[in-house]
Amino acid sequence: MKIAERIDATMADAIRSGQGGVAPAKLSAALNYAVTPGGARIRPTILTSVALACGDDRPALTNAAGVALELIHCASLVHDDLPCFDDADMRRGKPALHKAFSEPLAVLAGDSLIVMGFQILARAAGDMPQRTLGLIDILGTRTGMPFGICAGQGWESEATIDLSAYHQAKTGALFIAATQMGAVAAGQEPAPWEELGARIGEAFQVADDLRDALCDEATLGKPAGQDDLHGRPNAVAVYGVQGAIQRFDNILGGAISSIPACPGEAALAQMVRAYADRLVPADARRPRVAGE
Ligand code: IPE
Ligand code: IPE
Ligand code: MG
Ligand code: MG
Repeated sequence: MKIAERIDATMADAIRSGQGGVAPAKLSAALNYAVTPGGARIRPTILTSVALACGDDRPALTNAAGVALELIHCASLVHDDLPCFDDADMRRGKPALHKAFSEPLAVLAGDSLIVMGFQILARAAGDMPQRTLGLIDILGTRTGMPFGICAGQGWESEATIDLSAYHQAKTGALFIAATQMGAVAAGQEPAPWEELGARIGEAFQVADDLRDALCDEATLGKPAGQDDLHGRPNAVAVYGVQGAIQRFDNILGGAISSIPACPGEAALAQMVRAYADRLVPADARRPRVAGE
């Protein structure tokens, strides 16, 4: 089965598990609205690719880990769009959940998805309780305080932002979770996989800053120009467009050379390159000659 099919099937099961019985109808519908259609599903794709590179001997645990991570990510977007954070009307090309449903339902849908992420991991433990505890620990670390996305969003309430800590926690955290959880699901130690996740997260952040500055709302499916609007420090403001592209390429090179030795090392490097081409097309990254 292809990676995308594994993720979609496991995601559908997870959402169904939250909709049974006498559940309130609007909140049930909101759970589905928050995760479909999905975005790029990049975090579970990286997680599954790392697991495959390490042998993927417990695919059901890998699938649960990928979907747990994606559920947390989707929840973070639902909360991020609320008026008390970014007050964004659009997400993934449709009205943000708080617009389509209501603010209380957006708070509750995000909360429910976070809980569901940990639940599906616990339920997938099977004969690997130690691996599962490791997965729960990593996911918790990269979701909460002081290293997770809560910390990242928390920086926006400080008078001065530590840019590196902000980006590492807001964006990098779930990419570190992706590489480390992929390794742990396949029975490997997480530590050697931290650097790859951190570097992919850094490259993603630069690409996100480029897209925010260069693309329009129709292309992004969410509001554009947000960094300027909210006065947030970003790679384009610091390095300019060409400088940010150069930085993206440098970080990418570092990411590929940080891949730990494993049976699927070459295929994983290929996946990172292909992902980078989707983030910032190779054409935009080739050096410009004068007059172009
Ligand atoms: C958006 O992440 C949130 C950031 C951390 C900038 P993605 O660009 O991965 O969002 P989706 O899941 O594809 O919509
Ligand atoms: C969202 O960050 C990151 C989290 C929710 C953790 P942003 O606010 O920068 O991302 P977009 O532009 O809304 O996707
Ligand atoms: Mg935000
Ligand atoms: Mg936002």
